[in-house]
Amino acid sequence: MYICVCKGVTDHAIREAVLQGAERMRDLKASLGVTTQCGICACHAKMVLDQTLKQETPPSSLSCEPTRSYESTV
Ligand code: FES
Repeated sequence: MYICVCKGVTDHAIREAVLQGAERMRDLKASLGVTTQCGICACHAKMVLDQTLKQETPPSSLSCEPTRSYESTV
């Protein structure tokens, strides 16, 4: 779906930009040109950015901490 009609930027392109390291609206503005003309796309672009960042964040429940003791039983 087109998010920024002025620049022809789709939600897929925004997700790809996030996967390439975009973390803020200014990153999308610099890499894709969103919000550089009429600016109407800002709200939806931010929504796609936030949703994609949330999906990329590993769940906080995952941990490298051992879940049980490995003490010797000898
Ligand atoms: S729709 Fe994105 S700048 Fe106009």
